[in-house]
Amino acid sequence: MFAPVEIAGVASCVPARVVTNFELETMVDTSDEWISKRTGIKKRRIAVEETAVGMAAQAAAEALAMSGVGKDDIGLIVACTISGDNLTPAMASSVQKALDIPRCAAMDISAGCTGFVYALVTAISLMDTLGADSALVVASETMSKYVDWTDRSTCVLFGDGAGAVVLRRSEEPHMHYPILNAVPDTDAAIVIKKEARTTPFGPPVDGRMEYIRMNGSEVFTYAVEVMEDTLRRLHKMCGEKPYTKIIPHQANEKIIDYVMRTMRLDREQFFINISEYANTSSATIPIAMADAYRTGWLRQGDRVALVGFGSGLTSGGVVIDWTIPNKKEK
Ligand code: ACO
Repeated sequence: MFAPVEIAGVASCVPARVVTNFELETMVDTSDEWISKRTGIKKRRIAVEETAVGMAAQAAAEALAMSGVGKDDIGLIVACTISGDNLTPAMASSVQKALDIPRCAAMDISAGCTGFVYALVTAISLMDTLGADSALVVASETMSKYVDWTDRSTCVLFGDGAGAVVLRRSEEPHMHYPILNAVPDTDAAIVIKKEARTTPFGPPVDGRMEYIRMNGSEVFTYAVEVMEDTLRRLHKMCGEKPYTKIIPHQANEKIIDYVMRTMRLDREQFFINISEYANTSSATIPIAMADAYRTGWLRQGDRVALVGFGSGLTSGGVVIDWTIPNKKEK
């Protein structure tokens, strides 16, 4: 179980450039109708000037400002990405540098679209181990750089963006019931291969850019299974105080609809913003949290389940008691 921790700040940062389904109609053989009906996506943000580190730093700076936590008090930064700017240094280290955070632990997590849930659980656990009073958890993705913009089966699904939360030690526990899981992806359902590099010790290799490869229907089947399983397990662990709201990974609205139907849950219980941003991989959950708070959907006292799934094949969930008052309540 977790040591007592709360979320003290949340923020997101998305690129300025909006790409609608109608614009994609001019690039590949697709239609707004096909994309909307099969996925719920209407538009996405695409990084032009923005970088993964730049968006991560912006979201982290805003989350820190909201929390009132000083830079000197951050003991740990855990970042997650599968589409970051550099192999090394870690995105967490780049955020530390960008925000001029003097001294803390900094590391990245790679767990596909489940990255944020993994990062959150890792940060809370490490806060206890390291005796840190506060931590930054940041997700930032530039999926547009890893999408083949001539492949209609994948390019319509993804977008770019970042989200961040500040964790702070609290009197009472406000984060509960971590679930982290993974099963082997035996059929390679979601893969982005690193491009090959030639060395002096072997024959030249083809170092062409590699793009995301995905078996859509297989991912769909996996996603609905693990999302339902994780939500049921979290519900059981909550016992007499069940979660009433859910912020799921936004991969496809049909996945969420399916789970809603099989679990007989109400649409109002789910926060869904995939129509605006498409699938930003590990960043969908913190971007959704920031939107949910900003729009007043997420309210102080709410018990909310976060649930994610992604390449690996990974999955995970956690329950949060939301403690940040809404602006009008402050
Ligand atoms: N526009 C128009 N037609 C298209 C497009 C497109 N963008 N993409 C595929 N099609 C066509 C196919 O070519 C196919 O045509 P055919 O019948 O003539 O062969 C037809 O549409 C049906 O294709 P399917 O792949 O069977 O379509 P499906 O209903 O399975 O929907 C989708 C595809 C949306 C990808 C769905 O499988 C899905 O959402 N899966 C989950 C994948 C996912 O969410 N991945 C996110 C990344 S991983 C993650 O976040 C964990």
